[in-house]
Amino acid sequence: MPGSSRLPVSLRETFKARKGSARGQLVALNLDVLRNIIFILFLLRWTRRLFYQLKGRGITGSIADVYRYTRRTLYGTFLRLPGVRTKVQTQVAESIMKLERRLVPTGPGVERTITLPTEGWSEEQVRKALNDLEVMEHTRWEDGKVSGAVYHGGDELLKLQTEAFGKFTVSNPIHPDVFPGVRKMEAEVVAMVLSLFGAPEGAVGVSTSGGTESILMACLSARQKAFHERGVTEPEMIIPETAHTAFRKAGEYFKIKIHLIDCRAPQYKVHLPSVSRMVNPNTILLVGSAPNFPHGIIDDISSLSRIAQKKKLPLHVDCCLGSFLVPLLSKAGFESEPFDFRLKGVTSISCDTHKYGFAPKGNSTVLYRSDAFRKYQYFISPDWSGGVYASPSIAGSRPGALIAGCWASLVKQGESGYIDACHKIVGAMKKIEGAIREKPELNSDLKVIGRPLVSVVAFLSNTIDIYDIADGMSDKGWHLNALQSPPAIHVAVTLPIVKAADKLIADLVEVTEEVRERERKTIAGGKVAKGAVKGDAAALYGVAGSLPNKTVVVDLAKGFLDTLYKA
Ligand SMILES: *Cc1c(COP(=O)(O)O)cnc(C)c1O
Ligand SMILES: *[C@@H]1O[C@H](CO)[C@@H](O)[C@H](O)[C@H]1NC(C)=O
Ligand SMILES: *[C@@H]1O[C@H](CO)[C@@H](O)[C@H](O)[C@H]1NC(C)=O
Repeated sequence: MPGSSRLPVSLRETFKARKGSARGQLVALNLDVLRNIIFILFLLRWTRRLFYQLKGRGITGSIADVYRYTRRTLYGTFLRLPGVRTKVQTQVAESIMKLERRLVPTGPGVERTITLPTEGWSEEQVRKALNDLEVMEHTRWEDGKVSGAVYHGGDELLKLQTEAFGKFTVSNPIHPDVFPGVRKMEAEVVAMVLSLFGAPEGAVGVSTSGGTESILMACLSARQKAFHERGVTEPEMIIPETAHTAFRKAGEYFKIKIHLIDCRAPQYKVHLPSVSRMVNPNTILLVGSAPNFPHGIIDDISSLSRIAQKKKLPLHVDCCLGSFLVPLLSKAGFESEPFDFRLKGVTSISCDTHKYGFAPKGNSTVLYRSDAFRKYQYFISPDWSGGVYASPSIAGSRPGALIAGCWASLVKQGESGYIDACHKIVGAMKKIEGAIREKPELNSDLKVIGRPLVSVVAFLSNTIDIYDIADGMSDKGWHLNALQSPPAIHVAVTLPIVKAADKLIADLVEVTEEVRERERKTIAGGKVAKGAVKGDAAALYGVAGSLPNKTVVVDLAKGFLDTLYKA
């Protein structure tokens, strides 16, 4: 080793010199050199950052970023001005009170249980209370009035799931020796889902409590892999702006910097050249959705896969919503696009069994091309005083009953059951999409976003306030999802909605006509109607959309979460 033989010589010289009279000077000199080195490293680091920022966002993009940031900061300062602050706080408090009055029932008729009953209730009493809770006034998902939310496979399946629960209520997969049946079912669920996604030899997976946990795990695994194998300490990931917000949660929880890539009209798919440009040595993961939640659009996964292979990066495909629909589109006779492990660059996929797998809520899977990825999501603690501890995902104890419910759903439905459901659900989506595109009463004002292929159809309007449409539909008992940037709403078709699709279209026609009429009058009447009362969606998103700094929205949302825990 030539380098190591030189080192002792110079060290010896250093020590000799230290003995001499120039000792103090030398120390000072060394400190100087050290300071310069640190300064140069610092400079290098920031130059590198600046370089990757410019490479990723370009000059105009970077200027736009600075502009947006400045606006946000200035507006934030404005919000903190004494007069403004109290006014804003009062308004936020008022809105939260309003929300509370709606969500938390109060008054003399309402019985509340906020301490343990001293004596336990009788079985009869508990049953009666449960019944009352079940029928509390609510948006009628049973009549197909709720977009998404209730992924329900029919009453028969529900009964079977409840039976499965009953048999495994006490079980916990953390003890495979005590509950071998649960372990077997869990492994089989993962295997069945893998087979649905064109998994190659050696592919593996894990079950989780839901799509969010699946996505968190995939991000964690990518981060740990990059850290251990490439020494990445400042991880970044590149996601479409339409990707599920669970990726942003992963960014916050695991300190991964997020780069959002726009999904431009008319296709609303992630813009590929921007993805390539954004890659740098800190990149740990690329992401595509199949399909995304807001617009139900499948990103160009084939091209993302090519980019991932070229840059030697992992690629996660979020198929939480697509779950059991996207893999069966072709078999159900619909148009499809490549999205799974058959694309060589795809390294992980999240698939929710509790969405279109119709399993009970609290179930999802995350799949990996090989164990080289999965091993990085495991948590293993070899020296805990409680014993050697190992768990595959976030939870410790897990409900075995849910595994049984999930397994029972999958084997009961079978491929044919899911293909049949795919027919109905995608068929109903196409019917709604077709109506919006073709009915003159609708297509004069509403515009479908992109070309949806699965269960979600989103639409916007260039002529009327789309949030007024959302509020009008709410007045008719529907619960559609309001979206932002761009302002839009969507319907996520589920089995209960299939039967209600015609009614939905009819109501949409009516509401659109009403809103159109009203806006015409507003324009004609000038100021008079300007102060007209806006509905909830219009009030929230109409204002929020225009705010440069969203702290007010954050405060409102926090108030909402607090309200959930008010007894
Ligand atoms: C529902 C969904 C998820 C995960 O959501 P969970 O509520 O945590 O199950 C992830 N991605 C998309 C596109 C989704 O629609
Ligand atoms: C937005 O406003 C809040 C409160 O006024 C402030 O704390 C925050 O820093 C602002 N955000 C930005 C990015 O400046
Ligand atoms: C289902 O969800 C439960 C609850 O989180 C979890 O214990 C289990 O691992 C999941 N099982 C499957 C097969 O998805």
